Amino acid sequence: HIAGPCSLVIFGVTGDLARKKLMPAVYDLSNRGLLPPGFALTGFARRDWDDQDFTQVVHDAVKQYARTPFREEAWQQLAEGIRFVQGSFDDEAAFEELARTVHELDEQRGTRGNHAFYLSVPPSAFPTVCRQLARSGLSKPQHATDETQPWRRVVIEKPFGHDLASARELNDVVSEVFDQPSVFRIDHYLGKETVLNLLALRFANQMYEPIWNNHYVDHVQITMAEDIGIGGRAGYYDGIGAARDVIQNHLLQLLALTAMEEPASFAADDLVAEKIKVLSACRLPEDLAAHTARGQYAAGSQAGEQVKGYLDEDGTAPDSTTETYAAIRVDIDNRRWAGVPFYLRAGKRLGRRVTEIAVVFKSAPHLPFDSSETSDLGNNAIVIRVQPDEGVTIRFGAKVPGTAMEVRDVTMDFGYGHAFTQSSPEAYERLILSVLLGEPPLFPRHEEVELSWRILDPITAHWAAEGQPEPYRAGTWGPGSADEMLARDGRVWRRP
Ligand code: BG6
Repeated sequence: HIAGPCSLVIFGVTGDLARKKLMPAVYDLSNRGLLPPGFALTGFARRDWDDQDFTQVVHDAVKQYARTPFREEAWQQLAEGIRFVQGSFDDEAAFEELARTVHELDEQRGTRGNHAFYLSVPPSAFPTVCRQLARSGLSKPQHATDETQPWRRVVIEKPFGHDLASARELNDVVSEVFDQPSVFRIDHYLGKETVLNLLALRFANQMYEPIWNNHYVDHVQITMAEDIGIGGRAGYYDGIGAARDVIQNHLLQLLALTAMEEPASFAADDLVAEKIKVLSACRLPEDLAAHTARGQYAAGSQAGEQVKGYLDEDGTAPDSTTETYAAIRVDIDNRRWAGVPFYLRAGKRLGRRVTEIAVVFKSAPHLPFDSSETSDLGNNAIVIRVQPDEGVTIRFGAKVPGTAMEVRDVTMDFGYGHAFTQSSPEAYERLILSVLLGEPPLFPRHEEVELSWRILDPITAHWAAEGQPEPYRAGTWGPGSADEMLARDGRVWRRP
């Protein structure tokens, strides 16, 4: 799976994502031999740079963030294909220049008219960039089914809107210029090794699927906990919040992969069909006050260090009601999952960084032990650790060594680091390569985006009417209301 002749144009190369993820991923792909020798990378931004300046920027980003070792030879090969075009998004002349540059690359690097445009820019800039691409002839030729024809693809980063209506508007704008198969929406969680392993776990084995349903499962907890705060991202985050930032996309995608039926194949159409089916069956509880929770981090300490509260971060509104912690309950109205709540939570400045999917089983129907012998016994659980310490843990009861018949929880662990010697490619590597190969299964379609907003919109509307979120101390596990939310259902959050 090596990409054919092509180039990648990145808009927004002065941003964090480009520096920390995209440029290093391009180098890693190139270093692994997955890009064609004549591959070209063009940056577009307002900054007063020339090709050399931008090459230096890529070089520094690669040195700092690339996963694979730095090899002068691999770097030189990539560096020869690096170009920079200076301009703002409303500057027609700059797009003419971009078109010239890209056509020159076809000659100089043999990219054969195959170009992907990565919009690592705020969504408010999508319409302008798309229209400029169309005007300067860069969006044509449209995706051709004939493989000998050159292709043009567009890559867009979340947020895909901030609610259902804005997501639709955005989609309309993009589809005016690119046909649907040429649009690649990035949800970088779908590029993670462990997320893909969820599909292997469920569908390559015989022993999980028979118990993966409401006969055996009590509930599912999907957690995305981060220890970092918002850092320098207030401009993006304030007014958006945890639910729109990561539940609408990453966590609902994890829910879909956990709960969907087996797809006929892993081709995009089959996979998407199953995700759409399960997202369509999602239902929110009627009483949103009782079954959701939100919070905002206050000052506290993390790893022994004092950290600021959200309202004191640079760039947040002093009276901001943006949530940095969100927990919701989603029920799935189908035969497999009726009666099994899915609890989703995400937060910044929590106790530690961990993303996991925990499938928690019902208690055994009968325990032939004294209650004193099983006082430390919880429910069985299968926990898929997305990150860090990628792996799978199964929790079950075992006899404590000794003369008494005492039973308590133990875990059985599979860790990627122990089981495999190969290292995983970074999510962005996998996704960029998939764009260049034209393989769509790892990219959510617009229908999924719409369905996810449909699930979230009533919650954010409910919260908007509620005022200030509950503060929680940085370094803890979120607001008390989140614990109460689960306690009402007779359950507790895991403390991973
Ligand atoms: C992004 C969010 O999508 O995911 C960030 O916008 C978040 O707020 C990030 O920090 C987390 O990504 P990862 O891969 O570190 O879990």
